[in-house]
Amino acid sequence: MHPLPLEIAPDIFYIGVLDPDIRTFDIVMHTANGSSYNAYLIQTSQGVIIVDTVKKEFQELFFNRIESLCDYAAIRYVIVHHIEPDHSGALPELIARAPHAKVLISPQATTMLKALTGSENIDFETIWTNKQLRLGNKTLTFLSTPYLHWPETMSSYVEEDKLLFSGDVFGAHYCDRRLFNDKVGDFWYAFEYYYDHIMRPFQSYVKSALKLYDRLDIQTIAPLHGPIIRENPSTYIEAYRQWSTKLERHKEGQKVLSIFYLTSYKNTQEMAQAIYEGAESVENIVTNIYDLASIEEQNMIRILEESDGFLIGTPTINADAPKPVWNLLSCLMFLDKQGKSAGAFGSYGWSGEAIDHILARLKALKLRVPPLEPMKIKLIPTEEELQRCFCYGVEFAEILNGKMIEIDLA
Ligand code: FEO
Repeated sequence: MHPLPLEIAPDIFYIGVLDPDIRTFDIVMHTANGSSYNAYLIQTSQGVIIVDTVKKEFQELFFNRIESLCDYAAIRYVIVHHIEPDHSGALPELIARAPHAKVLISPQATTMLKALTGSENIDFETIWTNKQLRLGNKTLTFLSTPYLHWPETMSSYVEEDKLLFSGDVFGAHYCDRRLFNDKVGDFWYAFEYYYDHIMRPFQSYVKSALKLYDRLDIQTIAPLHGPIIRENPSTYIEAYRQWSTKLERHKEGQKVLSIFYLTSYKNTQEMAQAIYEGAESVENIVTNIYDLASIEEQNMIRILEESDGFLIGTPTINADAPKPVWNLLSCLMFLDKQGKSAGAFGSYGWSGEAIDHILARLKALKLRVPPLEPMKIKLIPTEEELQRCFCYGVEFAEILNGKMIEIDLA
């Protein structure tokens, strides 16, 4: 085990903290052995740079590490790659202790900085792609990597050491005192799980970040959580490239429509089948149909991710959609929804509000909801109503295929 602080590259020290007891992160993520809040200190010939801080409850450990390496008066810059409280909790106290420190943040973070510190008088400067900080013998080049995982997130690259401070990117909720990827246990599952929950909704931003990283010769990746990656960093970069690239499993130009349904008395199922047949009759459309009562969440996410459009069929029970339908909708928070079309349909007994609730939710999530007449049928669909379902499937598929219509995205 390494004593902390630990030198991870010439004059660059790990001053982060380990949190082996945390089990749930950001409400939705689990970790079986904790996490870490990584922070770093760079000693240069002209002063010290602090790279990120830690969660407030761990700040005394963080300050002990700084004090073992330098005086607060020597700190010239504090780089805030990500202002989420797990990385900025100790920032207000650090600013108070370091009288000569200037905070470097992205333009998007400025209002958050004021809210976090409760002060209008912070000495700060904004940074963006290609802007550089040269201090003594170290040169840092900044890279804007927004939405990974908040709108303000940045990365930076230390030219002399070929080291990337990647923010949340390439992180993992995995706690191991051995710190380096070639020393810790097998954390690949945690690395992938972290991607799935934190990065996956922002795939297009992941691709943009990778384009910036591709210009660099990266030998070490120092993320904000989990192991520091110094062995085979390209493996981890390539994994992000693969995960952020939609698989082209279908012929060029083909669109995938997925129909999910839940059914009590097979009425909504019959509607789903008729819509499926209508959509299937349209050229270049690959249609799939799934019973929501028998599908795992991870599979829902994968199917939704691969779909260009999806439809949700639901009965109405006690004026609402049943829980499996809301489970499906909750999966959308883990996905990049840009450009996906969606709609809802269903059979109902008395009131039929479920379809309206689902349509409202889809619109609120900024999905493209075509202005088709809602496909709501009372109880048992007649032959004529099933024919209408067939036509609805045709129409939805044609829209997916590029048929021009006006969609209200408000
Ligand atoms: Fe580790 Fe997005 O904060």
